[in-house]
Amino acid sequence: MNPYELAVKELVLKLEHLIEEHRLNGMYSPMEQVSGRVKSISSILEKAQRKKIPFENIETEMEDIAGIRIICQFVEDIERVAQLIRNRSDMTVKSVKDYLTNAKPSGYRSYHLIIYYTVETVHGPKRLQIEIQIRTLAMNFWATIEHSLQYKYRENIPEYVRNRLSSAADAIGMLDKEMSSVRSEIIDAQNSSHLQATLVAEILNNIQNLYKVANKRDIIKIQDEFYRVYAQEDMEQLIQFHKELDAIAEGYRAQNL
Ligand code: GTP
Ligand code: MG
Repeated sequence: MNPYELAVKELVLKLEHLIEEHRLNGMYSPMEQVSGRVKSISSILEKAQRKKIPFENIETEMEDIAGIRIICQFVEDIERVAQLIRNRSDMTVKSVKDYLTNAKPSGYRSYHLIIYYTVETVHGPKRLQIEIQIRTLAMNFWATIEHSLQYKYRENIPEYVRNRLSSAADAIGMLDKEMSSVRSEIIDAQNSSHLQATLVAEILNNIQNLYKVANKRDIIKIQDEFYRVYAQEDMEQLIQFHKELDAIAEGYRAQNL
């Protein structure tokens, strides 16, 4: 199981880093959350038995020994994430299951990719198959609850529960549609709060650096001006102040050369 554990750790780390990179660059990340797991030995054996997979074929025939789940905010993000994976040189897509356009009879919706991914082991490189599930927060909410009901009823979910789940799945579909229709507003809001945080951090950093070169009275004036602008809660003014402060700092740097 060791190579699978390594693969899951590496993939989660790489994808989380990608989320971080988007945020650091003030870009909207199509991925919200990443998690991974390796199937337990007992579920591997149970599935092999159920699917009549001979022991020696488990590694080639069982594609979900290692699984990665990527959660997105919006349906539109799912395709972007899939594209991002297709473009990577360290992952090769083997097959795709699109349960977005064709939901499963249960109502399950998600986008699945089986990829090949190579890890380095003490015995040399080892190419593994990994299942990547990409879905929205809302789809994940549904799948999580449906999964725990499957567990509770040991796969014999009574018909009335199945019907409720099916109409809940329809509601989830509607919810994702509604969310998509306000997507641009939400993304704008998220971007602007991120931009504001970045601006404030840079301004404070600039003011701090001025302490080394400017005289105290000037700095206090600048600081007071910053508090005044900040209290206005107006992004345009904050951007303008950031620019002016840059020019002032540049002036001091020139003087001190
Ligand atoms: P499994 O034997 O369940 O792995 O099915 P499969 O090999 O035919 O692949 P499939 O694409 O149907 O399912 C892969 C995985 O998707 C499953 O292991 C689940 O994690 C998830 N999944 C598929 N169908 C459902 C469903 O109806 N409900 C929930 N909650 N999850 C599902
Ligand atoms: Mg599975």
